[in-house]
Parts: sequence; structure tokens; C-alpha cells
Amino acid sequence: MNYSFKKSFMAIMAGSALLLAACGGGGGDAKQGESKEAPKSEDKKVLNVGTEATFIPFEFMEKGKVTGFDVDLLNAVAEEAGYEVKIENTGWDAMLAGLQGGQIDIGMAGITITKDRLKTYDFSDPYFESIGMIAFKEGTDIKSAEDLKGKKIGVQNGTTGQFNAEAVVGENSPDISKYESAALMFQALLSDNVDVVVTDKAVAEEYQKKYPDSNIQTITDNKAFAIEHYGIAFKKGSELKPEFDKALDALFENGKYAEIYKKWFDGAEPDIEALRKAAKE
Ligand code: ARG
Repeated sequence: MNYSFKKSFMAIMAGSALLLAACGGGGGDAKQGESKEAPKSEDKKVLNVGTEATFIPFEFMEKGKVTGFDVDLLNAVAEEAGYEVKIENTGWDAMLAGLQGGQIDIGMAGITITKDRLKTYDFSDPYFESIGMIAFKEGTDIKSAEDLKGKKIGVQNGTTGQFNAEAVVGENSPDISKYESAALMFQALLSDNVDVVVTDKAVAEEYQKKYPDSNIQTITDNKAFAIEHYGIAFKKGSELKPEFDKALDALFENGKYAEIYKKWFDGAEPDIEALRKAAKE
């Protein structure tokens, strides 16, 4: 290609690019901001979901994807409500910050509905009942929550496990080590950096199964620890809450919730009536 040919060729290309760009404007009739493509009936609004995916069996990473009870449930609830969800393993703190900042529409992470959190977030009706659990290695002397005193305690930062431990040994106790994720907390237990961890029942039992060689023991204490309920978290005042409550209720009714529950909890039947009762409290 000689120089002058190249120059005119480039000029033609540039000219047609401009022409194309002008034609692409939708004939001048389309209003500003209006989509040029005809909306497909399949076009659903995509909601950004944050989670902390080391909370087995609720959310954990498998082959690079977030999976678990919460994931199946949220997908089903969102579908029922007419939304699509994009679930990302943001981590716990970023999930909560993102909810407040509006970058995240939904927090789905086995999040306990607490009075305190209700000041900052909205929650769906309860979708799971839980209670605090203490996990420790065989040989550690723990019979009740009182025995946490004098032990090195691991918790996930900012969770009800931390609050449960603090209620026994005091806030700011130097014996409490706070970890960023459930996995790091359990790692500390496995490597004897802490004597015990305080977390949620189903999760403690799942880690116990995951590491059979570590002889992890678990106890709960229903005098010291209160019943907890998990909810789907939204930013305060979100218009999603009523829609998701309705959709969750539909899944309670049509058997889909029970199906997902059985899949993740060894075929166990969920107590939907207890969840419904808790919703009214
Ligand atoms: N249910 C507890 C809470 O809300 C622990 C939740 C931790 N979730 C997680 N995905 N790591 O405080």
C-alpha cells in the first residue's frame, strides 16, 4: 500500500465510521435513554447479591461458583419474584458495606435478623432457624457456654458468634480472636490457634463432617444462646422486601422450599410453620 492510497483509504474508513455512527442513532425518533432493542419478555432486572462463601452448607465455593442452600433458595425466590440474581463472593464486611452504599441489592449469607441490624437493613421474613454452637477439639473441657471463660475463642468478625461469645466473656475480651470469614475461623481451630469457635449450628456440624480426622466436637447451649432466624438482607426501605416475602411464601406453599431444604439437609423436613410463626414476632 503506498502512502497516498493508505491515506485516502483511512479517510474513507473514518468517513463510513461516522456515517454508521449517525445511522445507529435510531432514526432520531428514539427518546433519550430509551432502549433501541425491543425488550424481550425474558429481560429481567439483574440484582447484585453479596455473600461470604465459606459458610457451608449455606454458601461455599465449588468449581469457582458460589453454591449452597442459600444460593438455591435465593435463585428460586428471585425467579418467583421475576428477577435475575448475580451472586458474588464479596466477603462479609464488603457485603454489608455494599448494601448500605447501594452497590449491592441483596445480602444472602445466613444473615441473622437482629434488632440491631434492623436499624440499618431490611430483612425478608425468616427462611431458616438457627442457634449458636461451640465447636472444639476432643479433649477440650466444654459443657456449656460458661466454659468459654478462660478459653481462647475464635469467631467470625461481626457475626452473632462474636456477640454470643462476648455475652459470656465480655466485649473486648483479649481472649476473643476475630476472623474475616468462617473458613479462617475454622482454620484457627484446626491449627490450634484457638481452643473453641462460636458459630452457627448447621455450619459447625458441616465443618465437623468436613474434617473427620480433627475430631471436632460440638455443643449448643439453649440457655445462653437464643434462637436465631436468617433473612434475606436488603438496604433500608428497599422495594424488594414485599416482593421477596411474597415469593418466599409461594415457595413455602408450593413445596419448592421443602425440596431445596431436603436437598441440603439430608432429606429432613423443614418446619415451615415455625418460620411463619417467627415472621409474626
Ligand atoms: N448467622 C450469623 C450472623 O448473621 C453468621 C453468618 C455468617 N455468614 C457467613 N456467610 N459467613 O451473624
